[in-house]
Amino acid sequence: MNYTKALETDIPALIDMRIAYLTEDYQTLAAEQADAIRAQLPGYFAGHLNRDLIAYAAKDERKIAASAFLHITEMPANPAVLTGKFGVMLNVYTRPEYRRMGIAKQLLTMAIEDGRRLSLSYISLDATQDGLPLYRKLKFTEIKPRYTGMILKL
Ligand SMILES: CC(C)(COP(=O)(O)OP(=O)(O)OC[C@H]1O[C@@H](n2cnc3c(N)ncnc32)[C@H](O)[C@@H]1OP(=O)(O)O)[C@@H](O)C(=O)NCCC(=O)NCCS
Repeated sequence: MNYTKALETDIPALIDMRIAYLTEDYQTLAAEQADAIRAQLPGYFAGHLNRDLIAYAAKDERKIAASAFLHITEMPANPAVLTGKFGVMLNVYTRPEYRRMGIAKQLLTMAIEDGRRLSLSYISLDATQDGLPLYRKLKFTEIKPRYTGMILKL
């Protein structure tokens, strides 16, 4: 298995990994939603890859077996974000035939090392049931939100 950071040439494969992850996570992903997402992704990756998004990929020959995205945000500092920078893990996904081989763990370890190197104050994520044991092993802890998250759908 070859552990790398994705480059521009990997964008079509990253799009496939994004759709594969969402299809498994959102079992109700409708065809129109998948189409809209697929239409947004090429421009998104072209504009953000290796700027504020690092995509880690485990490759078996040329096929991507697993992915993990680290999205970096910079904002005005506050007590929880002293450096003003934090990361969010997205699309942690190992194709079913490659699971329980330590692949996601290796990709997350790379992301955590980069997070330290880039002076991120923290890395957060929303864990699925599948992901919880893995994240706990890597010392992620559950948080009790200090504020009430709210949303205005547009
Ligand atoms: C969660 C997921 C990414 C784990 O990928 P993986 O490559 O199989 O994980 P790893 O093999 O690196 O597992 C690392 C450790 O977590 C443990 N672990 C992984 N999945 C587990 C599970 N479902 N139940 C219990 N333990 C698990 C393993 O025992 C392993 O521990 P070890 O290194 O001490 O043996 C994979 O199951 C997946 O893609 N699931 C669907 C998408 C998803 O839910 N992603 C998480 C989004 S937050």
